[in-house]
Amino acid sequence: MAIIIKDNVFTLQTQNSTYQMKADSKGVLLHTYYGRKTDETDYSYMISMADRGFSGNLYEAREDRTYSLDFLPQEFPVRGSGDYRISCMHADLGTGVRDCLLFFHDYRIWHGKYELEGLPAMFASEEEAVDTLEIILKDSQEEFYVHLYYGVFEEHDIITRAARVENRTDKEIRLSKVLSACLDMDHDGMDMIHFFGRHAGEREMERVPLFHGVTELRSTRGTSSHQHNPFVILADKTTSEEMGACFGFSLLYSGGFHMHAEVDQFHQTRLVMGIDDSVFTWSLQPGEYFVTPELAMAYSGQGLSGLSHCYHNGFQKNLIRSAWKDKRRPILVNNWEATYFDFNAEKLLDIAKEAAELELDMLVLDDGWFGKRDDDYSGLGDWYVNEEKLGCSLKELADNVNELGLMFGLWFEPEMISEDSNLYRSHPEWAMVVPGRKPIRGRSQLVLDMSREDVRHYIKERLFAILDSANIQYVKWDMNRSVAAAYSALLPRERQGELRHRYVLGLYEVMEAMLKRYPDLLLEGCSGGGGRYDAGMLYYAPQIWCSDNTDAIERLSIHYGTSFGYPMSSVSAHVSVCPNHQNGRVTPFKTRGICAMQGTFGYELDLSKMTEEEKEEAREQVRTFKERYRLFQFGNYYRITSPLENRDFTAWEYADKDGKEAYMGVVYTDLHGNPAAQSVKFQGLLPEGNYVMQKDNKPAGTYTGAALMNGGILLPVPVENYDSCQIYIRLEE
Ligand code: GLA
Repeated sequence: MAIIIKDNVFTLQTQNSTYQMKADSKGVLLHTYYGRKTDETDYSYMISMADRGFSGNLYEAREDRTYSLDFLPQEFPVRGSGDYRISCMHADLGTGVRDCLLFFHDYRIWHGKYELEGLPAMFASEEEAVDTLEIILKDSQEEFYVHLYYGVFEEHDIITRAARVENRTDKEIRLSKVLSACLDMDHDGMDMIHFFGRHAGEREMERVPLFHGVTELRSTRGTSSHQHNPFVILADKTTSEEMGACFGFSLLYSGGFHMHAEVDQFHQTRLVMGIDDSVFTWSLQPGEYFVTPELAMAYSGQGLSGLSHCYHNGFQKNLIRSAWKDKRRPILVNNWEATYFDFNAEKLLDIAKEAAELELDMLVLDDGWFGKRDDDYSGLGDWYVNEEKLGCSLKELADNVNELGLMFGLWFEPEMISEDSNLYRSHPEWAMVVPGRKPIRGRSQLVLDMSREDVRHYIKERLFAILDSANIQYVKWDMNRSVAAAYSALLPRERQGELRHRYVLGLYEVMEAMLKRYPDLLLEGCSGGGGRYDAGMLYYAPQIWCSDNTDAIERLSIHYGTSFGYPMSSVSAHVSVCPNHQNGRVTPFKTRGICAMQGTFGYELDLSKMTEEEKEEAREQVRTFKERYRLFQFGNYYRITSPLENRDFTAWEYADKDGKEAYMGVVYTDLHGNPAAQSVKFQGLLPEGNYVMQKDNKPAGTYTGAALMNGGILLPVPVENYDSCQIYIRLEE
């Protein structure tokens, strides 16, 4: 058992980290330690008590003015306790004042992992070293309880957190903020690493020092968003890729979120994270409870790459559930950039024939196969196959594709409705539009009210009818706008603040129902590319279309940013045509392949229009991916250089977990006359092993692991713009 309890001190031990809290003599749940693995000493001796001016004192402290929650480290700070810092909860217990005061009430521990009703959560089998601690807090006056959950994943150095708020009073309780967790640290001077972006430019990494005051990251868009990712790292100033301490915070939630980090007057740092509270309210009737999304925290003393490995392994093993999680993902060709809306079955089959020739695994039919949908102004919601456009039924198309030896996949955007659709004409009230006001459009479409049972029923009915009608083994689930001015016709005025969270719960319910009915289905998440790339989505979709930007060079930094918090097996990436459709750049076909192989691999171009030379390259790429997929999907991923810092080239590596083989991808991003020598060092090898090397599939000598890790290797000189190379090594037999 990884949870040790002594004198109200709760110590959670993972392989390399320790987390500790204590219910003190007043009953306050203090946070006492999080960091490098240590013993079970009661670390509350490190908390300094002093009479701090203008810091309120708990009544329970009597005349002791040194006791104030304004500076004490806590597990779940709330508004109304004399703590003026950012808090986890605003709860109106019946007076109109949004204050409460929580004290330790009870606890429970058990082997295994807690579950969260209706929400994604990490899980574990009986055999795994995973335990749960539940701490129950109670308001000083009212029968109002907060259950704090801690899931301890020993192997991954991950501790998950979530809260369940329970109304056992006989009156309504109104919540206007309930976050998932808080982490207090006794020092300042930390850097925050976060991932901002835009459509076609997601998850750009930025590292900034925290300052005295509050730093906010937020999505108010109803989705986790392109603009800010619900994953953040706090790191010591000196922490680098390979060395130093850092803490990760990944919210398993696909709706709006917020993260606040505050450095206070005593140079302490607090981080809180959870559901976006900007328009959030929740009414708890007597006997009801509210459950927050899960926050997965990780600690690494081995730099940022160590932290990424915690998340990569943890999510790969204990979050992703798909039947596909351990299988080689199909190499697919998607027709979006190949045809956009202009296709019929004949055109699709031409692409499929080439795909079969090149030994790809699947054809994915993207947007435009249903209703009246020849552009993006109409048809969403009308999930009926447009046989006239296709020239055949979906079943016939899928059968023909299958006969070529390929699987067949299909695009949906279930949460949306076009005003020009039969669905809208018969159910305008299903769109989230404020009565009497003009809607805010996004990509000329409106958002369906996923909080409504009838809407969810319709979506399931249509999805299932289509999935039953043909052999469809993959679904790309898209979502192409942000939520704005949302209103639900079924919620009373005082409950409209619940809509956005109810929307996310509704979305999860439909996805869950679909996966339950089609357990072998491969689900790919998508929201205009990577606008909903979050750990919550990974619970349903083992892979996510990383960005609508398919340019190999811009993808370098998008993949780089994504790799900090998400396994590379979740990164969906395709080879597309040049000049690239998003930015007009021309890159070699080979480079596009090497970049796309950083994730789950595929093509998004008209294969029937490729030159013979390109086809030859593609065959080579397909062979490489099939041969090396174990490394790409399950190897340890290392960011060898940062595309944000190294202007000359970007390199990344996958090393087999036992160090027996490794692959390095290198893409040159600049050219020079009379260029300086460039070199790279491998990581994760066996120092005494002898490794046989191939550069671009050609023999390139034998080196010891020590030499490759300490001396490194020289890179070939690039011969054209955006040249690239791949280096593969394996232990000599
Ligand atoms: C979004 C997706 C694209 C494609 C289009 C179709 O932009 O990210 O990959 O599916 O929608 O409309």
